[in-house]
Amino acid sequence: MISSATLSPDVATPLLRIDRVSKRFGDVGAVDDLSLEIGRGEFFALLGPSGCGKTTLLRLLAGFETPDTGRLLLDGADIAPVLPHRRPVNMMFQNYALFPHLSVRDNIAFGLKRAALPRAEIDARVAEMLALVRLDGLEARKPDQLSGGQRQRVALARALARRPRLLLLDEPLAALDKKLRDSTQLELMALQRRLGTTFVVVTHDQDEAMTMADRIGVMKEGRLIQVATPRTLYEAPNSRWIAGFVGDVNLIEGRVVARHGARIEVTTDSVGTLRAVATDAQAQDHVCLAIRPEKMRLAWPGSAADANARAGTITGVGYLGGVTLYTIRLDGGMIWRATLANTMRRDNDAFAAGDQVCATFEPDDAVVLTR
Ligand SMILES: Nc1ncnc2c1ncn2[C@@H]1O[C@H](COP(=O)(O)OP(=O)(O)OP(=O)(O)O)[C@@H](O)[C@H]1O
Ligand SMILES: [Mg+2]
Repeated sequence: MISSATLSPDVATPLLRIDRVSKRFGDVGAVDDLSLEIGRGEFFALLGPSGCGKTTLLRLLAGFETPDTGRLLLDGADIAPVLPHRRPVNMMFQNYALFPHLSVRDNIAFGLKRAALPRAEIDARVAEMLALVRLDGLEARKPDQLSGGQRQRVALARALARRPRLLLLDEPLAALDKKLRDSTQLELMALQRRLGTTFVVVTHDQDEAMTMADRIGVMKEGRLIQVATPRTLYEAPNSRWIAGFVGDVNLIEGRVVARHGARIEVTTDSVGTLRAVATDAQAQDHVCLAIRPEKMRLAWPGSAADANARAGTITGVGYLGGVTLYTIRLDGGMIWRATLANTMRRDNDAFAAGDQVCATFEPDDAVVLTR
């Protein structure tokens, strides 16, 4: 989440209200009793495994599917009876198909011509869009004479030309390589802030969702499991499933055996009793401790003697550039994963496979999950 000095989203007054919407295809509940509010000017990202209903949700909003039950309200008005091309909503599809036989200009003007706008108005809008996505001078080219990134920007300009209040983007950057995707992410964010248009973006790429979105909704089997800011989603997942789906994590199952204020002791089958901090877990509750690999600390044996320290052997060292990922087999057999930042260029990895180490974590750094 990169903050911006320009328009910030007004999450308090929702532009869009999805109220208990369901959509079935035969016996598949593609969207299942889903409710969600999206704020005016918000950049909202939808994440979730393949087939969880993300595209179906966008198609319902765009009007290409009709909900079986529930209501869709835009600015307080029910949009169910409004035909797709009359909704102030536009959708950029998963494979943003441009018309290959039309020039860049005619691709962008397509929806405006269909809406029968006056010629002068169309020319002005196309010029405005070309400047917005920085494609001035390329308006006479055909899509096959453009780079992947340029084609992506034409698709975006085409989707924005009718000035929708809500823009739905289904995997808009999936076709781009990593470098181009990173720069296009920043362009998309700047554009969204400048226009103040509400964006709902589907992506498979968690880093992309974290970078761009004000809030992220994570879907599973047609339902929203958690809706939160990127930081909350990562640092305070609401369930084992979210903790495991978003980012990398160590999950340790156990039972609360003692509580002293917010401090709890959790007994586990695999690694004895561990300390954590939780406000809502009661004695005897079955809980799961979730610790991100970067919150784990590694030391030479004997140097760390806190209650969560466990002895083990390094079994894997994965150099990933910015960090190195260590796999540690604890003496009890459990596997923990820890990452250490590579802050100095000539630093070799701190530990090698086969080294005896001590792994530990701060009680505060474990998320105590009850679901
Ligand atoms: N027109 C359809 N007829 C029958 N089943 C459908 C139809 N459209 C979608 N489905 C099913 O509904 C479920 C949700 O599909 P959807 O396309 O919304 O998933 P998705 O989250 O966008 O997946 P992906 O990440 O792979 O694009 C899937 O099980 C899919 O097979
Ligand atoms: Mg999809």
